[in-house]
Amino acid sequence: MSAGGPHISARPMGPTHPAAHERADPCTMVIFGALGDLSRRKLLPAIYQLMKEHLVDEHFNVLGVSRDEGLGDDDFRSHMLKALKESDEVSGVDPELWQDLCQRLYFVSADLTKPDGYAAVGKRLEQIEAGRKREACNRLFYLAVPPSVFEPIVRNLAKSGLAPRTRTPEERPWARVVIEKPFGRSLESAQQLNDLVLGLFAEHQTYRIDHYLGKETVQNVLVLRFANSIFEPLWNRQSIQHVQITAAETVGVEERGKYYEEAGVVRDMFQNHLLQLLSLTAMEPPAQMSANAVRDEKVKVLKSIRWLSPETIADHTVRAQYTAGKSAGKAVRGYVEEPNVSPESMVPTFAAVRLFIDNWRWNGVPFYLRSGKRLKNRVSEIAVQFRSPPHLMFGHLTREAMRPNTLVMRVQPNEGVSLNFEVKVPGAAVALTSNIEIAPVDMEFNYAEAFGEVTAPAYETLLLDVMIGEATLFTRSDEVEAAWRVVDPLIKYWESHKPKRMPTYAAGSWGPREADELIEEDGVEWREPAS
Ligand code: BG6
Repeated sequence: MSAGGPHISARPMGPTHPAAHERADPCTMVIFGALGDLSRRKLLPAIYQLMKEHLVDEHFNVLGVSRDEGLGDDDFRSHMLKALKESDEVSGVDPELWQDLCQRLYFVSADLTKPDGYAAVGKRLEQIEAGRKREACNRLFYLAVPPSVFEPIVRNLAKSGLAPRTRTPEERPWARVVIEKPFGRSLESAQQLNDLVLGLFAEHQTYRIDHYLGKETVQNVLVLRFANSIFEPLWNRQSIQHVQITAAETVGVEERGKYYEEAGVVRDMFQNHLLQLLSLTAMEPPAQMSANAVRDEKVKVLKSIRWLSPETIADHTVRAQYTAGKSAGKAVRGYVEEPNVSPESMVPTFAAVRLFIDNWRWNGVPFYLRSGKRLKNRVSEIAVQFRSPPHLMFGHLTREAMRPNTLVMRVQPNEGVSLNFEVKVPGAAVALTSNIEIAPVDMEFNYAEAFGEVTAPAYETLLLDVMIGEATLFTRSDEVEAAWRVVDPLIKYWESHKPKRMPTYAAGSWGPREADELIEEDGVEWREPAS
């Protein structure tokens, strides 16, 4: 089923609550893995944007740390300038702004897996902080490093005394530690990592990133649901037939074959991004918009997801791998032909899963989740499909011929929200009850059209939040574990039950036939969203 038909636009009527852009606390952001991909592609562009919007403090600096020996501040600065020039997230580097940013960037070479590496980092930090009031010497440690070195780095960092444990979130100066995904590779390893981190730092110092939460449209799920009163009365099993959550990518695994062979689509996309979208869609209204109140509700949803037992996995899930095909008109290779991927690999690049949430609100409502690489379009969305009217008055229509009302929250691209409904096609009906012509129309809200700007990149929002001490958009320890509890049985089952033949899908398609069959047995079809 595809979206379409005439549409009605929604225009903003001016903010009812002006955006309160809080300015960040003074701090030094210490990036471990400063010359890596994440730092160049996401962190530096986000810092640049924050400076452009005057959101960082005058006492804001960046100390890049990496193993690369023989590099100094100037080398780091030119690497970062190059990164900014190459970034899609920055439209042109303003020379004046760069001058300001450039003199705030420092570099030190250190092996962070060894305790001695930290003396050099400490020395540079002292130089940077010289002359600042003690309470302004806040430190943000960003671990942009591979997961294999999280553990030694967290241990050494705590031991070095550079990031002292604080008793309360209000204590100054603060030290905060940002940990990138993947947080563990199983429930057990996530629990071990949580135990380790929380043995060394307080929860309020720990920021576990899921960059999906930084996307405007993901945050908008909460606003749409809880700043309006028209949706909530319908947001339950009585009115909703099912929910489809899609995170489709057109890219393949590219240069990340080594990582992806270890991860697969469930660890890479479901444990974090898709379950976050599900929990925001399904959670109860929190008492207030505070980090703990929101996260408490998300944890409750995750804990209510029905366990995927070995007996039910085959009926509720589909895995598949892409084969050669076409992406954006170009021939592309299959997964097993990608660099650093085993030709015999059984790692899934696509998964579709039917989940049920066993609570009063959602009992019996299927949540269909799917995600894959090399799919037809790049699109992430949450589609809430309402039930068909209980009584069909327009005699010539069968229930199947009617397009059910669907509320679609488009996460990306083409960020926005649409709601379709049926209207009467103008024209005299011969006999109103039996011959009336009906057509679906879309009521459409598009962020770019309405606000004239593309939404802020996720990392910009998240970095600012860490500097302010706002943790709502970060995953708490129990939340990470609750999400692992959902996917762990599936990962374990799939890894121990290799299929005789891995289902496949051609690059550039919407996934394997098996995924269609999975939901067709419920009388439902996957949407085919345009990008
Ligand atoms: C990352 C995954 O977390 O999210 C990648 O590791 C994936 O494999 C990416 O491509 C998708 O993020 P976005 O923001 O491009 O949808």
